[in-house]
Amino acid sequence: MNFYKLIFLLPLCLTGESDFITDLEYGEMLYNNPRGVSCASCHGKNGEGKDIVDYINKDDKLVVIRGIDIRYKSFDNIKKTVARNHPIMPKYYLTDEEVKAIYDYLSSKE
Ligand code: HEC
Repeated sequence: MNFYKLIFLLPLCLTGESDFITDLEYGEMLYNNPRGVSCASCHGKNGEGKDIVDYINKDDKLVVIRGIDIRYKSFDNIKKTVARNHPIMPKYYLTDEEVKAIYDYLSSKE
């Protein structure tokens, strides 16, 4: 193949199927670091949930604070949840596209 054919083919290689990261990788990246506070630190690597902290309360009872399993949550639920105030979970200002990417990532882990 001569040099000029190569020049014409190059843009085709850079667009189309060969994105630098896939949508799922983008979602995973966001899930792990959305605005600095990782969902994974409270909901586990794949959204399966995990214990955040446990302690013995004043009545000598063990209290476990848990980030719940969010792999089966709907897009609407995730969108509403992140945009709200909670006692433990922080409020996030994410775009619909970002929430969708996180949702797709979590759905791929079901
Ligand atoms: C500091 C810990 C923490 C972080 C960080 C966190 N969460 Fe949560 N999340 C919780 C806890 C605890 C609950 C359950 C109780 C509640 O709603 O406050 C929860 C609940 C949820 C729910 C379920 C809401 C419902 O009622 O069905 C979703 C969905 C969710 N989180 C998504 C996310 C996503 C997406 C991120 C990252 C953008 C995130 N969370 C980051 C602690 C956290």
